Amino acid sequence: MSLLCLGIETSCDETGVALMENGRLVQSKLRSQEDLHSLYGGVVPEIASREHLRMLPKLVDALFQESGREIGEVDVVAVARGPGLMGSLLVGLGFAKGTVLSTGARLLGVNHLLAHLLAAELEGQIPYPALGLLVSGGHTQLYLLKSPLEAEMLGRSLDDAAGEAFDKTAKMLNLPYPGGVYIDELSGFGTADPDLFPVPFVDNAHLDFSFSGLKTAVANHLAAHPDLRLEQFQQRPEAKQIAVKHPGLPKVCASFSRSVVRALSIKTKRALARHPEAASLLVAGGVAANSMLRSAMSQLAQEQQLPLIIPSPGLCTDNGAMIAAAGLRLAEAGYCHHLDLEAVPRGRPIPWDYSACS
Ligand code: KG4
Ligand code: ZN
Repeated sequence: MSLLCLGIETSCDETGVALMENGRLVQSKLRSQEDLHSLYGGVVPEIASREHLRMLPKLVDALFQESGREIGEVDVVAVARGPGLMGSLLVGLGFAKGTVLSTGARLLGVNHLLAHLLAAELEGQIPYPALGLLVSGGHTQLYLLKSPLEAEMLGRSLDDAAGEAFDKTAKMLNLPYPGGVYIDELSGFGTADPDLFPVPFVDNAHLDFSFSGLKTAVANHLAAHPDLRLEQFQQRPEAKQIAVKHPGLPKVCASFSRSVVRALSIKTKRALARHPEAASLLVAGGVAANSMLRSAMSQLAQEQQLPLIIPSPGLCTDNGAMIAAAGLRLAEAGYCHHLDLEAVPRGRPIPWDYSACS
């Protein structure tokens, strides 16, 4: 059965659309709102939804124009239904429902987190069961992914997500938003000092995470060394320029990154020990683009003699292709949603409320 699937992602500050057919990506478009939100040092929900509203129809038009396909050919419309910012999700859902009404395509609401985990399927096969570490701006979770649509959560962050810790640390340093990638790049110009910050929440027996204490440790260090905070930038500087001007900063960034990566690695290794049935180690979400995490996970996978499945950096952060890929999986399994599909805000579990449709 050949299905053409339109994927729509508007859960936070990226507007993403993609077309997939037969497990193959036909075309995708992505528009980041980074520049708009960086003026405020973080995502402003009202601005995010307005920008999705402005950009989504334009991106969909361009998607069809460039792919040479027609919207009437679409069999499945897959849309991120949460967790995310409510206003932003509603823009995507409204657009998806309108498209379904006008074309007769099948509607599928996609769990944004499951879509992150399945993003790697766009580049190859995931050997199941997979031990999945999901590290994004809003979530840090460990899963046993028994099959593409069966994910058992093993652990989660009790407070901040790893990406949030990166972004908040960057904000304390006055680095431009989103700061995760700046901290990553600056870390490359320095060496981590293992005594500078603690490895948070590892002296316990479970698989949960906590990053708020590490954030406090960084705040205390900066209070004692106020010279480490940068002046506010008008334009986005290159990390190298910052490193040259502020030689003390790379060590702080590398030490912070090391602490986050150590905590993630220790808990992931523990989860693997408890689930020897895992046939692969899967890492997903925006922070999976981090270079120190990628090399730590590659080392862990090698030690455990498991294949490491990690999307290329462009597929780690939010995008429409991962929504289309997960939507196709659901459609092929015979699922659909009806027009009463609801968006789910961050903090609420995503219900498994699909209907059987052929
Ligand atoms: O998955 P994602 O695009 O959005 C959410 O679903 O949250 O993840 C965004 C997060 C942000 O916190 C961003 O700073 C972080 O991923 N991030 C990184 C890197 N690239 C993106 N963190 C560390 N190093 C990176 N290279
Ligand atoms: Zn995401």
